[in-house]
Amino acid sequence: MDKIFVDKILILDFGGQYTHLISRRIRELGVYTEILPGNISFSKIAKNNFKGIILSGGPSSVYKKDSPKVDKEILKKGIPILGICYGHQLIAYLLGGKIEKGKAGEYGLTELRIIKRSPLFEGLAKKEIVWMNHRDVVKTLPKDFEIIAETEYSKIAAYQNLEKKIFGVQFHPEVSHTKKGKEILKNFVFKICQVKKEWQTKRMIEIIKREIKNEIGNKKAILALSGGIDSLVAAILVNSVIKNNLLSVYVDTGLMRKEDKEIIKRFSREYKFKLKIINAQKEFFKNLKGIVNPEEKRKIIGKIFIKIFERIAKKMNCDILIQGTIYSDRIESGQTRYSSKIKSHHNVGGLPKRSFLKIYEPLRNLYKDEVRNIAKILRIPKEIIKRHVFPGPGFAVRIIGEVTPKKVAIVKKATEIIEEELKRVGYYHKVWMAFPVLLSIKSVGIQGDKRSYKYPIVIRVVESQDAMTANFTKIPYSILEKISQRLTNEIKEINRVVYDITNKPPATMEWE
Ligand code: XMP
Repeated sequence: MDKIFVDKILILDFGGQYTHLISRRIRELGVYTEILPGNISFSKIAKNNFKGIILSGGPSSVYKKDSPKVDKEILKKGIPILGICYGHQLIAYLLGGKIEKGKAGEYGLTELRIIKRSPLFEGLAKKEIVWMNHRDVVKTLPKDFEIIAETEYSKIAAYQNLEKKIFGVQFHPEVSHTKKGKEILKNFVFKICQVKKEWQTKRMIEIIKREIKNEIGNKKAILALSGGIDSLVAAILVNSVIKNNLLSVYVDTGLMRKEDKEIIKRFSREYKFKLKIINAQKEFFKNLKGIVNPEEKRKIIGKIFIKIFERIAKKMNCDILIQGTIYSDRIESGQTRYSSKIKSHHNVGGLPKRSFLKIYEPLRNLYKDEVRNIAKILRIPKEIIKRHVFPGPGFAVRIIGEVTPKKVAIVKKATEIIEEELKRVGYYHKVWMAFPVLLSIKSVGIQGDKRSYKYPIVIRVVESQDAMTANFTKIPYSILEKISQRLTNEIKEINRVVYDITNKPPATMEWE
């Protein structure tokens, strides 16, 4: 839990796929949120002064013995509570209502009929379209609760106990398909919880700076720069607080984009932070020789990084390593309780556990769009803010199989071609990421009347809001054709190009 002194809403996570969407929607309203495991005890959150609590959806059935439950104490404290889907069922169940498996599930767009006045539904019409995704239904309500809305299949689609300030909705207000979802969340946050709108970009900067001051004080620290916007923003903020006590370090692994080093040099001059560039290409390639397993690659890269940072820190006599890790990096690395480990992001999970360095992550609670908004206020130019994100282990996770300098040269060149072409037709800024993946198999082709046997390149272009889910971009064939021609014409090791048409889930964005 964090010491952030603004009005805040707690989201208790029961493993629903939309938990972060609830959180993001509320932050978009200018209110800080924290997500904690659904079964956390009241004593652990008592001191935190949450102004309201939302119980998320989740895949379990409340009547199953091992399903996650909320601590009943939390429901007794007079803190306004909103249950969504599983949360809606859980509150009803724990307070004495009955939950049953519905005759059929209710999935997708559904008409909601509001049958009783409620502060939760202020400003809504009598009938609204909402989005449902459930099988279990609330059959009977606890004492002193009343039904406020119904659908054809759920007679208790929403309920309230005005005195206790407890509300439940079977549908999902956080997804955009629920047309008035934002209004409902707004009503809960501002009308029912009476939260102040304090989570704005300027305030975020103040809060982060104050924390930096408290955490680092007069000590020295080093900061790992990756070339991306997150670590750059972290460097500028930390530098503005601790000044000369900060040394920002860029490790040139040989696996990063062509312009990264230059961008870092330029900003270290403009924002006057101390910069050290370490040329470690040889060390990285030597250690990655023969390694094909993606997790092993990440771990090796993490280990070399930490070795380099430890060396520099020892010389400086300091023990704090600052990283630009943001919220989504932590979730993807399985650092929240109900999410499983997907990948070891090197800037978090890939680092060895035992090191004398203490890791400090000033941006750990921010979503990507929040970091981008801070960058805007810091006057970082648009073309830098809008650069696509790039993974910490760099091209190593975009080369399937062994990583060699030759293969890195191929993906580097392919990256340039893809980016150039997408920028030319105005597509680059419409998408989250666009990149090549080099496969280690070869296939037969015909080039200049001769048989060829070469590598294929996969083009991956995805759209996403926050990296948690993504859709592949439906790029016009004419653009793909141009890119394909350039890739096979200009890179002599390539004779075939394929387009990745998988969403996330089931795939991830990167191939490794
Ligand atoms: P995936 O492949 O997990 O990627 O869908 C989600 C987002 O995270 C980036 N990514 C990483 N970033 N270290 C990072 O700093 C990593 O190890 C790493 N792996 C993936 C990825 O580029 C995408 O934007």
